[in-house]
Amino acid sequence: MKRHLIAAADLTRDDAVLILDTAEELSRIADRPIKKLPTLRGRTVVNLFFEDSTRTRISFEAAAKRLSADVINFSAKGSSVSKGESLKDTALTLEAMGADAVVIRHHDSGAPHRLATSDWIQGSVVNAGDGTHEHPTQALLDAFTLRRRLTGPGTGRDLSGRRVTIVGDILHSRVARSNVRLLHTLGAEVTVVAPPTLVPVGVRPWPCEVSYDLDSVLATSDAVMMLRVQRERMNAAFFPTEREYARRYGLNGDRMARMPDHAVVLHPGPMNRGMEITAEVADSPRCTAVEQVANGVSIRMAVLYLLLGGAEPAVATPRTEENA
Ligand code: NCD
Repeated sequence: MKRHLIAAADLTRDDAVLILDTAEELSRIADRPIKKLPTLRGRTVVNLFFEDSTRTRISFEAAAKRLSADVINFSAKGSSVSKGESLKDTALTLEAMGADAVVIRHHDSGAPHRLATSDWIQGSVVNAGDGTHEHPTQALLDAFTLRRRLTGPGTGRDLSGRRVTIVGDILHSRVARSNVRLLHTLGAEVTVVAPPTLVPVGVRPWPCEVSYDLDSVLATSDAVMMLRVQRERMNAAFFPTEREYARRYGLNGDRMARMPDHAVVLHPGPMNRGMEITAEVADSPRCTAVEQVANGVSIRMAVLYLLLGGAEPAVATPRTEENA
């Protein structure tokens, strides 16, 4: 694996499978009474968040703490960034504090790449979402969730040939970009579905099919991933009304009933209930939104461990009389 995790596009199939398998191993500690491993003791992880976040920030924090790292949470609001401090000066400050990893979310696409290729910091950089570009740990936790739901033990947990449909605001979605790339790397067949106004102009080279008709792809989907309509990134009217959007591209109970029995519904959160997804679907056992959050902690533990951890195994074998 490389020193940084900036984009799903940087991961080979072997890298991705290693992260997913390591996360599977690490997830077992969530069932223990004491959910902590000493693996990253003495290491410092900085969460550098220039954009709002609930799930991703606390997930990285929980992951680092479960590996016994020290965690510094930095949010741009209330910091000197609101006084105009640059990314460079912020990074130099973090470096002076001895950050071993910087987890960065930024409204500008490319900010994590800039940090990783600079000589401002020595540690690993993990992209926690940059503009409309990429959100690699989200795609990894989605793939982890799909493996658990769609493949059984003993099947090699292989997603080859599985059909995943990603629906909604593709244009503004870093989750869609990272998922299309990673799912393709893992052998899945991806279709993106959106109104023509919310499909990026440059979609042609993406390794996926494009459709404008949700109803035509439901019956052949093993998973349907609904995306939030990202109003904060919209500077124009991309669809006539919310009602019209929900009517054509929202997932409701009727549409879910047309999916195969084994098929699941994913959503990265936060959900706009009543817009891209109805409450009936969001609260159904086929929707994995809450499970995705839990799986996110295991994925981020795996990523931090693989980027920062030494050669020691992630989960030490408990001492028994034979190996003591
Ligand atoms: C996503 C994000 O921030 O890109 N959310 C997340 O990380 N859980 C998707 C979104 O905001 O709609």
